[in-house]
Amino acid sequence: MKHLIDILDLSVEEVERLLELAGRIQDAPADYAERCRRKKLATLFFEPSTRTRLSFEAAMYELGGNVLGFSEAQSSSAAKGESVSDTVRTVGCYADIIAMRHPKEGAPLVASLRSPVPVINAGDGGHNHPTQTLTDLMTIRRELGGFSGLTVGLCGDLKFGRTVHSLLAALSRYPGVRFVLISPEELRLPEYNKKALEASGADWRETESLEEAMPELDVLYMTRVQRERFFNEADYLRLRDSYILTPEKLGAARADMRVLHPLPRVNEISVAVDDDPRAAYFRQVRNGKFVRMALILTLLGLGD
Ligand code: CP
Repeated sequence: MKHLIDILDLSVEEVERLLELAGRIQDAPADYAERCRRKKLATLFFEPSTRTRLSFEAAMYELGGNVLGFSEAQSSSAAKGESVSDTVRTVGCYADIIAMRHPKEGAPLVASLRSPVPVINAGDGGHNHPTQTLTDLMTIRRELGGFSGLTVGLCGDLKFGRTVHSLLAALSRYPGVRFVLISPEELRLPEYNKKALEASGADWRETESLEEAMPELDVLYMTRVQRERFFNEADYLRLRDSYILTPEKLGAARADMRVLHPLPRVNEISVAVDDDPRAAYFRQVRNGKFVRMALILTLLGLGD
């Protein structure tokens, strides 16, 4: 049995196979409409979500399966003190596969050690978010044709942004990818992620200036400042508007650059940017359902 806890649990070849399957599902969804008949997905969300939970649920319904679960810890027996391990041992009696989001880093890994069914990490604290990364990779590939040789700017909260950590790990395995890490000093990428970048041999640099980086980017990955991870509200209020992408700032970008954002957006991309053809973040949302369909099929051994 295989789980997906960290994007590096998948080899580059496995990622490629998942993206290819997601593409085939997108092209011919009717071919997959009965694949998960009588299978059940449990969505165990101990932290808020719109896209991840609902795209997992939509994915399972589109595969002909069913969904059960909860969307907040307070409506589960976690509120009575039940451990994550006991929760997944219990849910594994009812469901064939589990998608779990948890505010504590490592909780889905702990769950996977005791779960009788595959566990998918749907985001753990400020650590990892591998299914968002599959979504991001599918979007970059569909929009720009591939990954090798791209210059990718990641902007905003690189400290707490779990989507950033997983995306860097995934992209650093492709040749010639360069990273420009754009953040205020207090929200820089954690040291453990920098060490992993160094070990991968990827080319990367840090800057505080989005304007300075903009002209060289193939992809601009904007992120929200993660209010829920701050210890101090005053620090959040001071840092939340560090970067706001506007049509004027986008004027310095290449005509074929793409803007991605895992969403939700707060204030970091002006809505006036949404109609720019380079704004790919709502196409990215759509791709999320297809990669999750591909992942569910693969982990259940029901892929092509
Ligand atoms: N991208 C993402 O994880 O969004 P949600 O928090 O809405 O699931």
